[in-house]
Amino acid sequence: MFSISSQVLYLVSASLAGFVTVPLFLRSRKLDAIPTVVSTNSWRSAIKNLMGASGIIQEGYNKYKNAPFKIPMLYNWIVVVSGTKLLDEVRMAPDDQLSSVEGANDFFKTAFTMGHRVANEPYHLGIIKTQLTRKLPNLCPIIEDEVSASLDDMFSLQNDEWKPVVALQASRDVVSRVFNRIFVGLPLCRNPDWLKFGNQHAIDSIVSMAKMDLFPRFMLVAIFLTSTRNHVERGVEFLGPAIMERRQSADRARGGEVVDVPDDFLQWLMENGTESAERDITQRMLNMIFVSVQGTASSLTRVVYDLAAHPEYLVPLREEVDAVVRQDGWTKVAIDKMYKIDSFLKESYRFDGVSSLVMIRKVLKDFTFSDGRVVPRGCYIAAPSYAVHHDVEFYEKPDDFDPFRYIRLHRDGDDMKQQVVSLGSNFLAFGHGKHACPGRFVAATIQKIILARIVSSYDLKLDNAPAPSKSVEFGVFIGPDPNTTILLKKRSFN
Ligand code: HEM
Repeated sequence: MFSISSQVLYLVSASLAGFVTVPLFLRSRKLDAIPTVVSTNSWRSAIKNLMGASGIIQEGYNKYKNAPFKIPMLYNWIVVVSGTKLLDEVRMAPDDQLSSVEGANDFFKTAFTMGHRVANEPYHLGIIKTQLTRKLPNLCPIIEDEVSASLDDMFSLQNDEWKPVVALQASRDVVSRVFNRIFVGLPLCRNPDWLKFGNQHAIDSIVSMAKMDLFPRFMLVAIFLTSTRNHVERGVEFLGPAIMERRQSADRARGGEVVDVPDDFLQWLMENGTESAERDITQRMLNMIFVSVQGTASSLTRVVYDLAAHPEYLVPLREEVDAVVRQDGWTKVAIDKMYKIDSFLKESYRFDGVSSLVMIRKVLKDFTFSDGRVVPRGCYIAAPSYAVHHDVEFYEKPDDFDPFRYIRLHRDGDDMKQQVVSLGSNFLAFGHGKHACPGRFVAATIQKIILARIVSSYDLKLDNAPAPSKSVEFGVFIGPDPNTTILLKKRSFN
């Protein structure tokens, strides 16, 4: 049983608001000027899009590239736009007209799965952009230490033994340990019960989001479909003692004692956040773990898969890593010189991606494109990342996996522009504009260190029996096949 808290009241009022607003924009005629892409009829198409929208988005892109088109969801429309001109119009729009936060809240059902304070007061964004990103040079050796410890713990390999490894599970394990090292520090980051709980929280959140997609956005039933309600109490059992201990040391420091102050995300939240209750801080940390670990682990799984499928790139990657680490150690300077590793990651993001749409914006006030077409309040606007990434106009032989293609594009000191973290209307893996992923610098650094450590310590290849399939789709999300297995063995030095 749960008591009538401010959270429940918020969810009830949001549910009632949904009942009123959904039919209004379904009846809207304003969208008529924007062509619709449907396979048979809107409802059947909307149900099909729930299972995977990439096919219909590709069809729309092929027909209407550089012009808006719309696809149906069960209770709404998404207007899909591409091309520098239209994407610039979207990214320059003010937040009170096109909202990235509300778009994400609706797609991820944030208020229901992560709590209404996380959904409506996203102050953790500022902490990602400032403390987390600025401290990356100091964090590199710590990240490398945790990556090495995780890989050693996970794979105890005998000489010449090929070991089957479930790629998604292994990626999730190492990525969640590394993020937890940055977020809550030692020893909690290595506590198997805490890591297992974080993973369960993510899985339950994703299942809740998927179930809620079947109902109008804020129907009351959503409250009962949310299986993460009790997770915060369990999370407090892990984080509560750490929060308490840090408060006690802060008191002692105020009394003049010299104390060690942790330098991790939990500490930054406690010092800069607007929440003091253990429950609120825990809920925000669970959200951080969810947004960080899932995307990073999914894309890392693809990267590892791509390397196992193309082992001919192992030697050039390994030579680069050996050379820069010999010179600069596992420092940020060394990581920044790993151009081939960076290019490999970027190609894997382009080739596969974790979403068929990015830059999802909720229209809060009617939005008019420069050609006069209107998207009414309540709809969504988004960019077709997968289709753009496979467009021959932007990528030569787009259906070939060509991991060093960005190195060939390095010209006259413009290396930065080709990096995986740089944004543009033709490379959308992290979105575009002021709401592009603020976690991309840390995500890319972690993945580069993991990939560099893998190529310098292991040989890998695909486990060909049975033939691995690569992706599973749900709505706009594309995930790696959770059963894909690769084979790993200790690096041979001959
Ligand atoms: C490889 C891993 C990741 C991928 C592929 C990814 C991708 C994305 C994309 C496509 C967006 C939407 C951008 C837009 O609307 O223009 C986004 C937003 C966001 N990401 Fe990531 N992300 C990753 C890792 C992370 C990490 C590690 C964090 C946190 C440390 C993070 C935090 C966020 C946040 C808070 C937003 C919302 C930004 C805003 O609304 O202003 N992401 N991410």
